[in-house]
Amino acid sequence: MERRNHDRVGRTSASSGRRRGVASRVVTLGVLAVSAVLLLTACGPSGLKPYSTTSPASDGAEGINSLYKLVFWLALVVFIGVQFAIVYTALRFRRKKTPDQRPPQIHGNSRLEITWTILPAVVLLVILVPTITTLFDEHDALAESDLVIDVYGKQWWWEVQYGEDGAQGGQNLGVITANELVIPANRTVKIRLHSNNVIHSFWVPRLAGKLDVMPGHVNEMTIKTDKTGDYYGECAEFCGTQHAWMRFKIIVTDQDQFYGWVNGWREGNLIATQGDGTNLPEGVTRAPAKFNICLSCHTVNGAEGSVPPDQSNGAQLTGLEARANYGPNLTNIACRSTIAAGMLENNVDNMTLWLTDPHKVKPDNYMGDVIKPSTWASPDEAREMAEFLESLKPAGGCFNENVGAAAATPEATPGAVTGASPVASPATSPVASPAASPAAVVTKP
Ligand code: CUA
Repeated sequence: MERRNHDRVGRTSASSGRRRGVASRVVTLGVLAVSAVLLLTACGPSGLKPYSTTSPASDGAEGINSLYKLVFWLALVVFIGVQFAIVYTALRFRRKKTPDQRPPQIHGNSRLEITWTILPAVVLLVILVPTITTLFDEHDALAESDLVIDVYGKQWWWEVQYGEDGAQGGQNLGVITANELVIPANRTVKIRLHSNNVIHSFWVPRLAGKLDVMPGHVNEMTIKTDKTGDYYGECAEFCGTQHAWMRFKIIVTDQDQFYGWVNGWREGNLIATQGDGTNLPEGVTRAPAKFNICLSCHTVNGAEGSVPPDQSNGAQLTGLEARANYGPNLTNIACRSTIAAGMLENNVDNMTLWLTDPHKVKPDNYMGDVIKPSTWASPDEAREMAEFLESLKPAGGCFNENVGAAAATPEATPGAVTGASPVASPATSPVASPAASPAAVVTKP
């Protein structure tokens, strides 16, 4: 009797212990689920999703996002259907209490087999039709493009070269810059992707699909958006140790600002690389002596042509003749928002850091093979160079701090712009924002 009681007490405490176990497991799972949901929603705080394909900001990205949503919801329906079928089958046909009784053995069920062949085929067809339509839309957009930009994947940065501009009568804009593409809103911009080294991938999630940048083949894509602003991009294909630091940015501006930026670049920076810095023409800056080291890999354009040699008071001016594009073109470098391909904010302190020891900031980059801490006689010398570089901006200020700068050159008309290539003819002729173009009717940010 006493023993039975003891048993009963034991059983009771065991079953209540099991209940407690189940309860605590449910609580743990609940907490995990709530945290997971919170964590996932934290990925996109207050609608700011700079790297999200689900916040499309261009026609192409809208198309891709619609496809994504279609595939997602279809996949969800299929997933729930399959899970339901698994759970139902497992419960309905689970082992009965009579262990010896085997379930009826079935071979072949035509109706079932036809169903599970046709259903996936229908699902695939529903996905296939809009996919092909989107592909053709993307392809058709290439034919509509009227501004060509060539982008070169380097290790590890992006060179950006502006080509023919339909709004300027097919003139080659000639702008060469790095890591920041300025494009006008409401224009279909064609981007041609090149590489002479390894395979990279050009991806601006909010504006376009991901496209490989490969040696020996030029891939093309278009971007058209009516939303001005900054859009962030990444290299999306492993391309070496600094692959993660191969970022870039697309800055969508209105048409006036875009041509203001183009003209600022064509105007260039007036720099003297020799002489004692006295008797310089107005607006010309004497570069620090060691700037010649920079010029063995980089270009700063503009001096040639804007200041004819006979007016340069004997100072040797650098310009388009110094076409070393081994490293990024440094024209108007002060107007760029970042340096080292999106790694550092562009300011004197960071530029000093970068110049002092590029390998410390970004290991393995090519500049670090040339520029070392021993390049500089003192930390002040590196800082002096940084301050000089941060002064390289157009006379009228940077395009993004001086909206409508293009209006300063009203005498130029699209037809008046001559010279197909700014390399052959010094880039001094400003281009005007084509007022007649329907694309000029854009909203300012
Ligand atoms: Cu270029 Cu990764």
